[in-house]
Amino acid sequence: MKALVLSGGAGTRLRPITHTSAKQLVPIANKPILFYGLESIRDAGIADVGIIVGDTHAEIEAAVGNGEAWGLNVTYIRQDAPLGLAHAVLTAEEFVRGDDFVMYLGDNVIKGGIAGLVEEFRREAPAAMILLARVPEPQRFGVAELEGDRVVRLIEKPDVPPSDLALVGVYMFGPSILEAAKSIRPSARGELEITDAIQALIDAGEHVRPHIIDGWWKDTGRLEDLLEANRIMLSDLVPHIEGSVDKTSEIAGAVEICEGAEIVRSSIRGPVIIGARTRVTDSFIGPYTAISEECTIEDSEIEHSVIWAGSTIVGMHRLEDSLIGREVVVDRTERKPKAYRMMLGDHSRVDVV
Ligand code: DAU
Repeated sequence: MKALVLSGGAGTRLRPITHTSAKQLVPIANKPILFYGLESIRDAGIADVGIIVGDTHAEIEAAVGNGEAWGLNVTYIRQDAPLGLAHAVLTAEEFVRGDDFVMYLGDNVIKGGIAGLVEEFRREAPAAMILLARVPEPQRFGVAELEGDRVVRLIEKPDVPPSDLALVGVYMFGPSILEAAKSIRPSARGELEITDAIQALIDAGEHVRPHIIDGWWKDTGRLEDLLEANRIMLSDLVPHIEGSVDKTSEIAGAVEICEGAEIVRSSIRGPVIIGARTRVTDSFIGPYTAISEECTIEDSEIEHSVIWAGSTIVGMHRLEDSLIGREVVVDRTERKPKAYRMMLGDHSRVDVV
């Protein structure tokens, strides 16, 4: 069995971060989203992984390399344009032909992994196995209609959802998915939808097995979902202090302070992770905050936020529910006239008080 990980696509809902970076590399608890998927694949005993990449291929390849860090054997497959999930499968035809494979969307996180699900697929050997989760807003996802334990219909982002069962971004396929993907036409949004390809399997009388998951799952495409994923992953944080904490600082709850980080005259209330060589001075870092490596935080209060590597935050009272990209500078100045001065990328978002 192989795995196909989808890391192409555009990431419009996380702009401006995704103008310059792959959405699959945004960190959750200081680890790129994509790495959680690779770990789950490895833990399911799969070693051959094809990664679909698009415009951000160089960045993904630099982060994952040949996969040996996970004991994986990674092949990169270039998709010229994000023309849909079924298009990605067809682009990978040579890699998956004749094999069963797990298709894992690189911006999805499933807590608890997929080993049991892969086992179930191997045992039952259906043409496809889809994972479903009950969600409050099914119209944002592919939605399944079941009769007993049979899938009868799948619809991509329906205006009027027939159920609250959303398609989770992990699918298991036998070889017949290739013919099904070849048989469909682009949807109204111009994509070859995997949902339609699976529907084609159902229409051909093939066995499509549903599995309703009860664990936590998230598509991290939107800021609020990303922050929730960060929250969930930080909830499991094992306290560990490698960096230095001065005598006047206070650490409470589950806090990880990585190698070379410095905490000076500050209060850290976990769960919080502070990345390697980050310096926190005269600040409060509150629950559910992940600060990546080589950041500088001074005279600030930050809570429930994700700060990516190399950023500087000075004099922010206070920052919450935020995602800050790489090498961002947020500074306080005494310069006159007293005013907000900003240089923001396209699609940036700032809420001032
Ligand atoms: O997250 C679950 C949902 O994922 C399902 O419920 C939907 O049925 C499914 O269509 C998909 O919907 P999204 O609109 O969220 O898919 P998105 O465009 O965000 O793409 C998912 C991942 O696949 C993302 O990491 C980018 C990558 N991708 C996407 C496209 C369209 C590719 O690599 N190539 C592509 O052509």
